[in-house]
Amino acid sequence: MTITEKVVETQNGFKPGLEGVVAAETRLSHVDGQKGELLIGGYPLAELASDVTFEETVLLLWHGALPNQQELAAFRQQVATLRTLPTAIVDLLAAAAQQRIPTMTALRMAAGTLDLDSDPREEKETQAARLLARLPTIVATYWRLLHGQAPIAPDSALDHAANYLYMLTGERPTQAQVRGLETYLNTVVDHGLNASTFAARVIIATDTDLTSALVGALGALKGPLHGGAPGPALDMVFEIGEAVRADAYLRAKLERGERLMGFGHRVYKVRDPRAEVLSQAAEQMFRAGGGDMALYTLVKTVEQTAVALLAEYKPGRNLQTNVEFYTALLLHGLGLDTDLFTPTFAISRAAGWLAHCFEQQATGRLIRPQSRYVGPIRHR
Ligand code: COA
Repeated sequence: MTITEKVVETQNGFKPGLEGVVAAETRLSHVDGQKGELLIGGYPLAELASDVTFEETVLLLWHGALPNQQELAAFRQQVATLRTLPTAIVDLLAAAAQQRIPTMTALRMAAGTLDLDSDPREEKETQAARLLARLPTIVATYWRLLHGQAPIAPDSALDHAANYLYMLTGERPTQAQVRGLETYLNTVVDHGLNASTFAARVIIATDTDLTSALVGALGALKGPLHGGAPGPALDMVFEIGEAVRADAYLRAKLERGERLMGFGHRVYKVRDPRAEVLSQAAEQMFRAGGGDMALYTLVKTVEQTAVALLAEYKPGRNLQTNVEFYTALLLHGLGLDTDLFTPTFAISRAAGWLAHCFEQQATGRLIRPQSRYVGPIRHR
């Protein structure tokens, strides 16, 4: 075989972006884009998301089954006692706030320091619990420092979701707000082999530590092609302002060849099941007094108009509402600024990343694909 033939041979099977390549087996989630189904830990999303606490979902992913009362109580307590950040990390966040570093960048930077007071001999699940427990503290601490406010110490009496809202605002959230956030966190906790999850698996597969995998995944999620665009989806709704303007506004956008934010999906060719769950969660939260009902009604009109216009302008493309559209409404209804949307996504997805790390470690297999050489063959 000549050298040239060898090069051609390695080109076979090249899949740009690894599209369609199955690179892992998982029990954590299953995405069926044609049917619009998402299973989390074996449960259809709609049967789980609004029924359980985030802590229960975490244990479902980490242990493969929903916890009993005792297991749940022990885990809640463990997470609650691990939330406080070492002073050096708070100092780092204060320095970052002075530079007005974006919140996701500050989160990625601070996450890399989370080993400061941990013991490498600890059980890996304790290490994971510490990482998970501290991400909301980093985000809330940084957010307050960025806005010239003193950080608020975590409250060990509150669950993960409630405590996050409390550390951000200093006020105890209502039950409806906590339920809204729990449902959001449960909904986005895992989604097949998305880019950040794959990054986490690649990193942990080298037999490195969980913090390294977490930092790599945060770095991947931070990119605008992954962390999503709920902010622009919300901006679009605000620009429309009134239901009567929706048709003309969206039509003009499509005429200019622009995309409607919050619609269309690479995998889902029917309505994203997460959009359905989040739409219902937002409705319940808004009706319970957690948000502005006029905005909720406007969002519904914008959605109906957009889906109808997308069918008219892009026939056969099956462009439906995606997760970002209702994420925007729900998180805005909770009083979160758009800059907090991706960090809040990360707070949830971290539980999925850590679960994938455990799964990957159990395989004991290094992830090492091949590349296709497209350069010249030289001799000297
Ligand atoms: N608004 C208008 N047109 C859209 C559209 C949208 N939101 N999403 C896709 N299209 C159109 C494309 O312009 C293209 O039209 P064409 O064939 O006439 O050129 C066609 O639909 C297929 O688009 P393509 O980019 O190949 O689809 P994709 O599967 O790669 O795209 C997204 C998936 C998510 C990138 C895309 O739907 C999008 O940009 N959505 C808006 C941004 C968004 O909501 N992102 C969050 C995703 S969770």
